[in-house]
Amino acid sequence: MGRRRLYAVWLFALLTVPFSGVSAAEEAVAVRGVIPAPVSDVRTEGFYELKMPCRFVIRAPHGEAVAADELGSYLGTLGWQPAGKERPDVELRLEPGDRRFASDEAYRLEITPRRIVASARTAAGLFYAVQSLLQISDDGRLTHIACRTIEDAPRFGYRGFMIDVSRHFRSVEFVERQLDAMALFKLNRLHMHLTDGAGWRLEIERYPRLTELAAWRPYADWESWWKGDRRYCEADDPQARGGYYTKEDIRRIVEYARRRHIEVIPEIEMPGHSDEVTAAYPELGCTGVPYKDYDLCPGNEQTFEFLENVLGEVMELFPSEYIHVGGDEAGKSAWRTCPKCQARMQAEGLQDVDELQSYLIHRIERYLNAHGRKLLGWDEILDGGLAPNATVMSWRGVEGGMKALRAGHRAIFSPGEFCYLDYTQDAPFTQPASIGGYTPLRKVYSFEPVSEEMTPEQERLLLGVQANLWAEWIPTDAHYEYMMWPRLMALSEVGWSLPERKSYDAFHARALEASEQLRARGYEPFDLRTEYGERPESLAPKHHLAEGCTVHYATPWSRQYAASGAATLTDGVLGGWTYGDRRWQGFLDSDVDVTVDLGRVQQVHYIGATFMQSAGPYVWMPRQVEIYGSQDGEAYERLTTVHNDISPKCPDLLFKTFAYDGAAEVRYIRYVARSGGIPGGWLFVDELVVQ
Ligand code: ACM
Ligand code: ZN
Repeated sequence: MGRRRLYAVWLFALLTVPFSGVSAAEEAVAVRGVIPAPVSDVRTEGFYELKMPCRFVIRAPHGEAVAADELGSYLGTLGWQPAGKERPDVELRLEPGDRRFASDEAYRLEITPRRIVASARTAAGLFYAVQSLLQISDDGRLTHIACRTIEDAPRFGYRGFMIDVSRHFRSVEFVERQLDAMALFKLNRLHMHLTDGAGWRLEIERYPRLTELAAWRPYADWESWWKGDRRYCEADDPQARGGYYTKEDIRRIVEYARRRHIEVIPEIEMPGHSDEVTAAYPELGCTGVPYKDYDLCPGNEQTFEFLENVLGEVMELFPSEYIHVGGDEAGKSAWRTCPKCQARMQAEGLQDVDELQSYLIHRIERYLNAHGRKLLGWDEILDGGLAPNATVMSWRGVEGGMKALRAGHRAIFSPGEFCYLDYTQDAPFTQPASIGGYTPLRKVYSFEPVSEEMTPEQERLLLGVQANLWAEWIPTDAHYEYMMWPRLMALSEVGWSLPERKSYDAFHARALEASEQLRARGYEPFDLRTEYGERPESLAPKHHLAEGCTVHYATPWSRQYAASGAATLTDGVLGGWTYGDRRWQGFLDSDVDVTVDLGRVQQVHYIGATFMQSAGPYVWMPRQVEIYGSQDGEAYERLTTVHNDISPKCPDLLFKTFAYDGAAEVRYIRYVARSGGIPGGWLFVDELVVQ
């Protein structure tokens, strides 16, 4: 059953409804949806006949001349023309005092048979009215535009996307192209992950080695660099691959984004993910040896001098309210033995290395605040004590973000489960190599950032949401774009539309249209039309003899992957493509040894359980499985032993069922899956099926 069928029924309804009692001319009018779904969108009678080039007029008070000019020049890039003495197709009214609009991004778009009127209290609102019209008219390809009135305003002020240009560098042109598409869906923040171990991507005058050396690798892609010696090379090396943005490039990107009402937020990683910095300037790491330190040394004053100098140049380039300082995944191990770090901890009375990281973040926050900027960081900036004005970007679930909100800080939610677009977006066997996981469009769309437990004040401090696209496994522009779209449309609707306006099936139909629009613009989104979808076994409950029966665990499951605890193996729920879906139960460095009680002696002809292999994250098949039966729970007879025949070297996502087929009279079944013995290895199992 499931969504394919439902979707077909829904589409049928959509196609048939307009044919009841409307004129012949009406029939030809397609009523295209808008992403993100507006607050209110009311169909009215008739249609407007739009001829390209579209003619516009902007009506704005004198004080808004600059904003009006900028809007006009943006409309020019779309091929629209000032109406002059002719009748305008679109009248754009900038009405700064108008209190009908709920926010600076709110707008009203009224399409009548005689004209199209957009109004808003700021240029951003008018800009969004135009984006809605571009969707409704399919970039002007539709000539008959159904009359309607849209009243719209965003749910959250922060609707972001993070581009990772460290792992693979992307050109200015590529970034601009994505800014155009982001604007179409009313996303308004581009967070640029400019620095990381895989490459430094920003010209800094004070530290030229960052871009002479740390922006270049003698490898074509991240994977070969990672599996190779992880070295950088000189920019003029014939093997050099990579690149960086000059200051001029950044000014161009920032301005291009600003004209599209998108703020660019730079991220300068500290103190972890900084291998490229210590390769270029080894004295900034604890050992002082190049290619040895992953973290910067917070014991060394030079580290602060470096960070402040870099941030000084960064602030000159980026006018953003926030400066992102990373803060995630610092290893901190060298700090424990580094004399400078130890001296710093003593002098400052710091109890542990978490407090040492917190010391660094506090100092950097003071520096940014003194320059009128706010500090933003990943949720690890909570460890060791949050800096007084910091805003948390929560990626390890939303817990870090909730902790920040409870402490009265602002937060942006970007939980990996829903917002990490580097996870595979369709059945893994249909997709290019990726970091793994499974985050289809539906999953991104299902994210609801506001929970019951939040107070109104905490809701106010929740600035919004962001999707992140890490690029380790994404060497090409086309592949990167494919991972962005259409999933970023789902994130846009999460950030903009009210929950009561959301429906996945309706969104899916709009995403199909919008994907076509992107394709017509030359983009290469993932093709939703051929989506395979979730692991078929997981779509319907599995009914079997052991369903609901009690399971005794002789080996404990991992708390990290508990699924439904003791109910997991007999709840009739089979797992999907990823072990992270709370349906698979995980066992770390351990066998799975469980006994199920069927309640009475029964005739049984099948006993089986499925395991998953995903070599990247150390998920393996069991070495062998032993299945035993008993009538009294005391004397067990071995029914079968099944050996594994899948090589741990196989890099693909694989599933294998280890089962007994035969005839047995049993009440108790003991199922033992032996760990492959690779340290740090996992076994994942979803159900113990008995028939
Ligand atoms: C992160 O994914 N390390 C922020
Ligand atoms: Zn140190």
